[in-house]
Amino acid sequence: MSGFTEIRVELGDRSYPILVGEGVLDTAARSPGAGLPRRLLIVTHPRLWDLYGTSLARTLATQGCTVEHALVPAGETSKSLSMVNRLYRVMASAGLDRSSAVIALGGGVIGDLAGFASATWLRGIDVIQVPTTLLAMVDSAIGGKTGVNLPFGKNLVGAFHQPRAVWIDPCVLRSLPARDIRSGMGEVVKYGVIARPGLFEFLEDNVARCLALEPAAEARMIADSASCKAEVVSADEREGGLRAILNYGHTAGHAVEKVAGYRRVRHGEAVAIGMVVAAKLGERIGMTPPDVSERLERLLVSARLPVRVPAGLPVGPMVDAMRLDKKASSGMPRWVIARGIGHVEPGVEIPESLVVETLCELGADAKNGHTGKP
Ligand SMILES: NC(=O)c1ccc[n+]([C@@H]2O[C@H](COP(=O)([O-])OP(=O)(O)OC[C@H]3O[C@@H](n4cnc5c(N)ncnc54)[C@H](O)[C@@H]3O)[C@@H](O)[C@H]2O)c1
Ligand SMILES: [Zn+2]
Repeated sequence: MSGFTEIRVELGDRSYPILVGEGVLDTAARSPGAGLPRRLLIVTHPRLWDLYGTSLARTLATQGCTVEHALVPAGETSKSLSMVNRLYRVMASAGLDRSSAVIALGGGVIGDLAGFASATWLRGIDVIQVPTTLLAMVDSAIGGKTGVNLPFGKNLVGAFHQPRAVWIDPCVLRSLPARDIRSGMGEVVKYGVIARPGLFEFLEDNVARCLALEPAAEARMIADSASCKAEVVSADEREGGLRAILNYGHTAGHAVEKVAGYRRVRHGEAVAIGMVVAAKLGERIGMTPPDVSERLERLLVSARLPVRVPAGLPVGPMVDAMRLDKKASSGMPRWVIARGIGHVEPGVEIPESLVVETLCELGADAKNGHTGKP
């Protein structure tokens, strides 16, 4: 499709395009080359349906598609099995068969939920991911991880289900609250650190333009980040090795999110804090040069992201959360540590005492020392 950036996730016969550009939604929906199924279900939130869903549905209808929609309340609580069950009912009444597809129009919540429903309906039907948050554009919509939460844990039930296409129209970010833009920026900075030193330098010079969603800057940060994620997923779909580098900043980040409460700290904010924790730890074990930590922290501050553990957060439960993290091995968290900007090493083990000290130095509450629970 001309006028858009096309990035490919290369997975043999499950390869797919990520199309990035202003107006891509309308153009992709009109493109005869897209070979769209006749029957489609748009899954989205009520507000996004009003803002973007209705016009997308109208365009698809002009192409001869039968389009139904399912509206899901906004918020993480919608990522549940009971919501999947509600979607199955809609899918049944809309007559979605093996040749039909779901369009997931929303942020990570919609992408994960609608992706999982698609992965399991009739043992798997196509899903087109149409991310509407910066976080979803650069991360969750790409790579095929789908799933829902259980009452006792996040993302515990899920499936790998690669989308058939990802359509990214940066225009939709205009309606996204500024805090969610900054949160998405946490992941963008992560790509710079793990594998895109050019993107990192670009952000150092242009962070204000990115936050203001200036079109050229916005297009650059989205395309660079999405292509980094696509490259890593193409090389390691199921996290056998390389994909672990995407977890940079997430070991401590997930713990901050869990202990602070998901409502209080956004995912990308927690990742920003987690990257600083990883950098300080990296310095302590002699892997991360101090100037790398300094540049990282300076960039995060200029993106108005947090770089300290929220005041009073107890260190014990944070360490416990890290031991229970899905990516831990035999109760030992595996750290991704930066050796330079654009170069990280996964699978690093770090003594717990160092982790506790570093977390406390960065603001965690030492009085609430670690529980020693296995
Ligand atoms: N599958 C993956 O690989 C992966 C990776 C990272 C995160 N996730 C998941 O993603 C979820 C978080 O995603 P998120 O940060 O996108 O949050 P989200 O999907 O909850 O969206 C945040 C809020 O923004 C609103 N919104 C979305 N797009 C908008 C727009 N264009 N204009 C106005 N409002 C808009 C939503 O209605 C919601 O209230 C978590 O559940 C997390 O587990 C998944
Ligand atoms: Zn993340």
